[in-house]
Amino acid sequence: MSLLIFALCLTVTVAANSDSNYYGRTKPAKVKQEKVTRLRFYLHDIISGKNPSAVRIAHANVTGGGSVDDSAVGFGSLFAMDDPLTIGPGKNSKEIGNGRGMYVSGSKDISKLTIVMYADLAFTRGKFNGSSISVFSRNPVAEEAGEREIGIVGGRGKFRMARGFVNIKTHQIDMKTGDAVLRYDATVYHY
Ligand SMILES: *[C@@H]1O[C@H](CO)[C@@H](O)[C@H](O)[C@H]1NC(C)=O
Ligand SMILES: *[C@@H]1O[C@H](CO)[C@@H](O)[C@H](O)[C@H]1NC(C)=O
Repeated sequence: MSLLIFALCLTVTVAANSDSNYYGRTKPAKVKQEKVTRLRFYLHDIISGKNPSAVRIAHANVTGGGSVDDSAVGFGSLFAMDDPLTIGPGKNSKEIGNGRGMYVSGSKDISKLTIVMYADLAFTRGKFNGSSISVFSRNPVAEEAGEREIGIVGGRGKFRMARGFVNIKTHQIDMKTGDAVLRYDATVYHY
């Protein structure tokens, strides 16, 4: 009987709580051992042709006296991307995921092309099928190979609360169209 009353009180308390507050009690978080996983895959960023994986969705309406041109990557151009991720660099290499999001050409110095990426790189095969890593970072496209690094700020699924970085190397680029295949070497810290 007393147990029933206790249970009732508990229910009432919880209900009152959830009605009057938008927050729960703050308590120490359980600290889990962090793990590290390294990933290597290739991202295909195809701007040209009839079936591009990245499309320009906005650009600035100024020419800036010629210093900022209207090329595909001019300062202020914003792209939406749904870039395939593959195991190998080849066009027909096995697809293991997709990188979806946006990138904006963020440097006024067009000799030092820099994009800023806001993307979710998701995996659709293997151990990390259903998981993804979140990238929110400057990507200094013009930097030397080995120097190009982007930050991982989070993730989903097995990569929930991930952090880390990706070293990017251009595997192949068509200077005329801007189509590129990039090697992503990711170091992901996660729980
Ligand atoms: C910017 O847009 C306005 C309005 O459409 C247009 O009149 C103007 O010519 C544009 N400027 C440039 C530099 O394209
Ligand atoms: C990946 O996960 C989805 C959703 O759980 C599932 O439908 C699909 O078959 C999986 N693919 C592979 C290749 O395991």
